[in-house]
Amino acid sequence: MNICMIGTGYVGLVTGACFAELGNKVICVDNDPRKIGLLKKGEMPIYEPGLDVLVHKNVKAGRLSFSMSIADGIKNADFAFIAVGTPPRSDGSADLSFVENVSREIALNLKKYLVIVEKSTVPVETCEWVKKTITKFNRKKIPFDVVSNPEFLREGTAVNDFLKPDRVIVGLETDRARKTVQKLYGPLKCPILFTDTKSAEIIKHASNSFLATKISYINSVARICEKVGANVEQVAEGMGFDPRIGRSFLNAGCGFGGFCFPKDLEAFLWISKKLGADFEMLESVKKVNEEQMIHFVRKIEESLWIINGKTVGILGLAFKPNTDDMRFAPSIEIIRMLQERGAKIQAYDPISMPNAKKVLQNVTLKDSIYETARGADCLVIVTEWPEFRKINLAKIKKLLTHPTIIDGRNLFKPEDMKKMGFHYASIGRKSV
Ligand code: UGA
Repeated sequence: MNICMIGTGYVGLVTGACFAELGNKVICVDNDPRKIGLLKKGEMPIYEPGLDVLVHKNVKAGRLSFSMSIADGIKNADFAFIAVGTPPRSDGSADLSFVENVSREIALNLKKYLVIVEKSTVPVETCEWVKKTITKFNRKKIPFDVVSNPEFLREGTAVNDFLKPDRVIVGLETDRARKTVQKLYGPLKCPILFTDTKSAEIIKHASNSFLATKISYINSVARICEKVGANVEQVAEGMGFDPRIGRSFLNAGCGFGGFCFPKDLEAFLWISKKLGADFEMLESVKKVNEEQMIHFVRKIEESLWIINGKTVGILGLAFKPNTDDMRFAPSIEIIRMLQERGAKIQAYDPISMPNAKKVLQNVTLKDSIYETARGADCLVIVTEWPEFRKINLAKIKKLLTHPTIIDGRNLFKPEDMKKMGFHYASIGRKSV
């Protein structure tokens, strides 16, 4: 099938490349000349494991191309996917101006029946607005359908998540759209749930908010564990055996971040308030997450006593492993709080250094894990990159001024760290 993918961010580019991999012909459109320029040269504007290989392969096969023109993109298309940004406004609501602009442009260039798929994360009732906007500018009255198809892929594992999804959710209104969508997603051989558009939109916000709730829940449990000397990992394991609860997303840590959970939580809260159906529970989820970062900095303070003038080595800056994404990364807030208390920061991240440079100030970026430990009063782990689990701890011990590690992602066993002579503090477990 012919697909026009509008927006080449994490969602659009991965989705476009994966649809091409499935044998469709995809034109990825973006109004950012820098991004399109890079893609045309074969360079990726973002880091996502496996994406470059997929893009190169499908460009070579003639199934994937890039353009700045929506008119060109939709000329022969069966589908136009809207995968543009919906950034948060200061009141927490989502800014939908890009979605509106794209809808208008699609309408003005409509030549034949088109299924317009809303892929960006949007508040409930956005599809209705997209439909109204397209109807308004669709002067030749060309038939079209608007479909809500929220995305559930995670950064860092996005390609695999797309090709092997747990489910595909499609909110739509007509049989014609249903048949066309079924043809597109059929090859993925996964459950496809057809709903109305509003339910599909709510499924996305409700899913992300629920996952964020699981994290804040286990972080609250972790604080109780710390008070009595219990172990949150064991508690999570015990809870997780119950299939009604499940073990995933019960990893206690120094807080969640990224461009999805914090933003979607805010947007869902905002919409619930607007509709007069206040979702108060989510206020607590947000508050626990903010407090968790403060709590983590307090742990560092308890280990160092006075932070002012001390050098803190930070391992991991991206909001999670296997991505270069620094948006709403917990590291930003943790570093800010440490700097406020007078710490000198040196830091390392395997992939996100170029993005970190843009958002962090007065941070000395180091070339390696070991250079980050050298001369530091303590080492702080913020992101659980796989390579951090394999670090040579004996070497780290020699490089630090004091053998202190504060671990925000529970990478090591406290008893092993004690044996090695470290002072080691982690989340929801006894400090040693
Ligand atoms: C999240 C959802 O998991 C995806 O399903 C969704 O499609 C995506 O948002 C989106 O809306 O686009 P993502 O933000 O890429 O995906 O990352 P996650 O793996 O969900 O992690 C989010 C944050 O939660 C990270 O900071 C991570 O460190 C933290 N986290 C995750 C925990 O602190 N504990 C956990 O047990 C799991």
